[in-house]
Amino acid sequence: MLEKEVTILLSKVLKQPGGKNYKQIVDIMLEINTPIICVKKSSQNKRIMPFKSLYDSNENFWQQDSSWEYSLAKESLDKIKEEVIARKGSWIDDIDIETNEKNNAKPNPKTNDKDIEKLEVQVGYGSEYKNFADMSTPEKVDRLNKNKQKLNELLALKNKDTEVITEALVDTTKDAALINHTALVDAIRLGDDEAKKLTQDVVDSTHEMVKSSAMLLTSDIFNNELINTLVKKSNGTIVQHMTRVYIHGIAFLSYYNNLVSTSSAIQKLRISFQARKSKYRDFYHKLLPHVDLDELSLERVFYGGMRAIPRDDYFKWAVGFLIHDIGKAANVEYHEGEASYDRNIVIDHVKQGYKSVMNKTNYPMEASLIIGYHHEYYGDPAGYGFFRAFLQQYKKQNPEAHQDYCISYDLEPVLDYHVLAYFPAKVLEIIDVYDSVTDPNRVYRKAMTPEEALAMMREDFIEKHHKLDYVLFDIFDSFIREQQKHLNK
Ligand SMILES: [Fe+2]
Ligand SMILES: [Fe+2]
Repeated sequence: MLEKEVTILLSKVLKQPGGKNYKQIVDIMLEINTPIICVKKSSQNKRIMPFKSLYDSNENFWQQDSSWEYSLAKESLDKIKEEVIARKGSWIDDIDIETNEKNNAKPNPKTNDKDIEKLEVQVGYGSEYKNFADMSTPEKVDRLNKNKQKLNELLALKNKDTEVITEALVDTTKDAALINHTALVDAIRLGDDEAKKLTQDVVDSTHEMVKSSAMLLTSDIFNNELINTLVKKSNGTIVQHMTRVYIHGIAFLSYYNNLVSTSSAIQKLRISFQARKSKYRDFYHKLLPHVDLDELSLERVFYGGMRAIPRDDYFKWAVGFLIHDIGKAANVEYHEGEASYDRNIVIDHVKQGYKSVMNKTNYPMEASLIIGYHHEYYGDPAGYGFFRAFLQQYKKQNPEAHQDYCISYDLEPVLDYHVLAYFPAKVLEIIDVYDSVTDPNRVYRKAMTPEEALAMMREDFIEKHHKLDYVLFDIFDSFIREQQKHLNK
């Protein structure tokens, strides 16, 4: 039960941009990353968001976004006041302190009391981690099934409300990520067979939930505004990253499928390959140096030819996207530039994730491969090189063998080393990089805008180095630009 929750409206603290003390207070709030209590006016749904992430996405969010009410706790205000005085600034004494009595009398059931008590910016797997770790397996399965039902109900509705759907997608994806991580932590101590038994129901229910959520995401309700809202809801935890990557991943696959099946896109790409000074041919020649330059074509990039993705694969890949960073330990720093950042530990999440999902669960092999191969960067030294190690071993045993193709849609050519990469893992690499550089809660550097991110990725990950796939990146580029076009309308 919440007692005497003393909150101050952010508009009373900041007043007008340019006003007295404004810049100093903003700087202090950015520095200490003040937790902001955000209350959705229509639903009274409450979330705690770091000031920096809200400010980075819109510097005047507290004035311009009228559907939310933004406030901060008395203790946060005291901290700011202390800092202002320490910096010899003058404090505004007319800030009214308001006791939010309505919320005190009746705490909203959607509010997580613990979040409000702690008022800390979430890191790692977030403050909800413990609640999920304490759940029994049947409780976890029950939650997944209820979430699936919730999504199916939304899918069946005639008049779909984007906001309700966004909330549902974020919440159900977040639950699934936490449930899977905590289930795997329990399973890891067991022998493989026992572990598979323990995780079986969670695996089945997650798979079913993912089907419902993927269907919702590819239904006509899906729009670009939804992605933008999802990104704004980020609070910097690994779970939120996985949520965004999952949703972006499905959206991209859907865009890709429409593109290759309804337009002359493949034909256009083929023509680009044939051009005398083809950017693609030069790029792929560096990846497949033993293939004659004239022979480089779209068919060399995609094993068996470029094609749409069947529904069944789609769902399996979606599970892989959802749990792609599951090998990350809950208490490790993943932000480059932070004092405790350790690259070796970070690299390890790929191996740990692959091994545990492969050996301790019955998730399809597609999901394990996505997890294991999502930081390969076509063999660039900056990649984590998990697949590369297998490949080198294979090459030692088969010195004559070489890869004649870049990407496979199916497992077999990857497992037989006929190709350099696995399609969904290559897609995930792009989305993963994009998500991390545009994450509004990036601590060590300001988040990039979509345009900045695309330009940087093209320069550093395609032109200077050959990390991402060129054709897939060009499709991703048009996918993001399309999204932005809708948003700016
Ligand atoms: Fe990762
Ligand atoms: Fe990731």
